[in-house]
Amino acid sequence: MSFIRTEDRDGVRVITLDNPPVNSLSFALSGELVPIVEAADKDDGVKAVVFIGANGIFSAGADVNDFSTEPTPETRTIRDVIAAVERSNKIYVAAIQKNALGGGLELSLACDYRVATADTKVGLPEIKLGLLPGAGGTQRLPRLIGAQDALDMMLKGKNVKAADAKEKGILDEVVESADGLLDAALKLAKNTEKRRISRRKVELGKGITAQAAPFIVSQAHKMVPAEDAGGFAAHKLIDAVEAAFELPFEFGIAREARLFEELARSAPSFALRHVFFAERELAKIPGLGDAKPLEVKKAGVIGAGTMGTGIAITFAQAGIPVAVIDSNADAVEKARQTVFGMFMYQVQKGRMTQEEAWKLGQSIHFTDDYNELADADVVIEAVFESMDVKKQVFEKLDGIVKPEGILASNTSTLDIDEMASVTKRRDKFVGLHFFVPANIMPLLEIVRGKDTSAQTLATAFKLGKTLRKTAVLSTNAFGFIGNRMVFDYAKAAGALAEEGISPMRIDRVAKTFGFPMGPFAMGDLSGIDVAWHIAKARPDVAKGRTDVIDRLVEMKRLGQKTMAGYFRYDKSVGKGREPIADPEIEALFADEAKKHGIAPREVSDDEILQRLVFALINRGAYLLEEGVALRPGDIDIVYIFGYGFPPHHGGPMWYADEVGVKHVYDKVVEFGWEPAPLLKSIAEKNGTFAALKQGELINA
Ligand code: 3HC
Repeated sequence: MSFIRTEDRDGVRVITLDNPPVNSLSFALSGELVPIVEAADKDDGVKAVVFIGANGIFSAGADVNDFSTEPTPETRTIRDVIAAVERSNKIYVAAIQKNALGGGLELSLACDYRVATADTKVGLPEIKLGLLPGAGGTQRLPRLIGAQDALDMMLKGKNVKAADAKEKGILDEVVESADGLLDAALKLAKNTEKRRISRRKVELGKGITAQAAPFIVSQAHKMVPAEDAGGFAAHKLIDAVEAAFELPFEFGIAREARLFEELARSAPSFALRHVFFAERELAKIPGLGDAKPLEVKKAGVIGAGTMGTGIAITFAQAGIPVAVIDSNADAVEKARQTVFGMFMYQVQKGRMTQEEAWKLGQSIHFTDDYNELADADVVIEAVFESMDVKKQVFEKLDGIVKPEGILASNTSTLDIDEMASVTKRRDKFVGLHFFVPANIMPLLEIVRGKDTSAQTLATAFKLGKTLRKTAVLSTNAFGFIGNRMVFDYAKAAGALAEEGISPMRIDRVAKTFGFPMGPFAMGDLSGIDVAWHIAKARPDVAKGRTDVIDRLVEMKRLGQKTMAGYFRYDKSVGKGREPIADPEIEALFADEAKKHGIAPREVSDDEILQRLVFALINRGAYLLEEGVALRPGDIDIVYIFGYGFPPHHGGPMWYADEVGVKHVYDKVVEFGWEPAPLLKSIAEKNGTFAALKQGELINA
């Protein structure tokens, strides 16, 4: 198979990268490209070379799959291509469309000139994969735009729009569209002189002296997370940039390559690469066939509470007008203020103009008239979590919304089939579970009911993409994926506290692992009353949870909103959001423990972590077996995007593989929990979740 096409145009060799879908610069492509570059260099008829991409894109960089394969002595990488360009005496121009990312940008940086279409974004996002730019990026970009700017771009892995990239000096020219791209590149190739990025030592940035280098480096090390807390790649990246200050170019390149190889084999990078591919698997739903999604041009939301308002803002931001139905004038007034405040904040931050904010605000229409939803393509119910109330809403909607309109519930625990049963369009019924605040949280659980049609599901996934959400499929099961698992997690935390470990210490262990907050702070944030209601509705699921929840509800300590829950809150400490340890609650746990004959015991931090995370893993295994979640990776994404599981550990199921499923199983048994049969069978085979075949899991 060929990945490269060449064509000579008046002394310029045009080399087209053609490796669909994103022209990744795989080992195979590089193996083909190195001799082509060498041949162009030797050809007297060739004055210059233009690199351009097929498939509407320049290149997404190295092929991420290759990093998990063992190279042979014959393997050629993008580094070899760049070395061939570097050795060559011809002029090289990169003609960039849509994206030059990672190795794609690094190849461009090795060229003499770079021209791009106006819709292009360039960047070195390797850090998001737990890597550093390993094909010269850490040495060339700082030399081109100054170390400080380059460090910022690489440490954040941020993509820069064409116009900004030109201003920074990354691009030489920006053309309107792809139509004029090749011509502009050919012009540069023919009419310019060779001009590689200078090999002299790096400059820091405008107005910064060379003496500041050690300061910049030490500051950068301080600003990124610790090596074992998600910052492993960041520190290595800074080391590579430091080499650009200190070492001659070739030595810097060699150090970068060594650091890159180290990262490519590191556990955090394997985990982040898993996350990258798991995210892209999500929408691959068996049985969906070629179902054509419907277009959503108008939406409706029922309920102007926190959730409904957040959902409405999300639609508005995605350019879909939305009508919000609520008959409570106070709620509507509050919602209006939230919407206004939200868009004004964006204006203040310089993210949009006043006019844009005004336009977005106008696309959210508050009303108490259901009839305004007659022509809505999708209506999402976000009312009080009560089956009776929701059924009333759907019965009404079914009589008003056009027959092809999709009805969706934002319930977090209730049975969507029961809701669908009151409508005459069960095939057009789906769960769309947003997370609070809906306009910020990236996760969306799409819940498939027993009659949800392929087209409805396809529409839900397309809508998820339009709303810029990370959408994960769940079947209609209590708590779906995320909340079902969080119950077991919270239960494990409560049991630990009853054994005499303070909530503060348990939370600290979770935070040290990488969660943004611990289980008790999370309970306080989501509301103790919420957990209490769920426990009342489903005593089977709540079995074994601490009775302290009941005591807290009796005491009206409902969490952050009442400034007291498992912790105390004080307006003067962290704006009322910082948990303060409360001995009264520790005593409450001790009382409950005594009642149940639980003796206090010494528990190590390791055990605390295991009991929290292994509870997630065991429940995750049940969910896979029951077909609630499609793939281990889907669960990982739910936990990373919805609950702050540290991405450098890859999500709970990936983490199980990392520490060993057998080890997890042994501990689950030791803790006296009922192990999921799937966990047991994988442990017995000494296998991994990652190795599970999709087909073995799907109950679709
Ligand atoms: N390697 C392998 N596969 C890749 C890839 C890459 N670098 N980039 C994208 N793909 C695959 C995706 O897995 C997906 O495959 P699928 O269709 O089988 O699921 C397909 O290409 C399309 O990708 P998206 O669904 O993400 O398509 P979008 O159009 O939404 O986005 C993109 C395109 C902006 C290019 C996005 O894919 C992206 O950001 N890619 C990753 C870029 C990146 O991280 N590059 C750095 C690579 S590491 C590197 O270069 C090391 C070097 O320094 C040595």
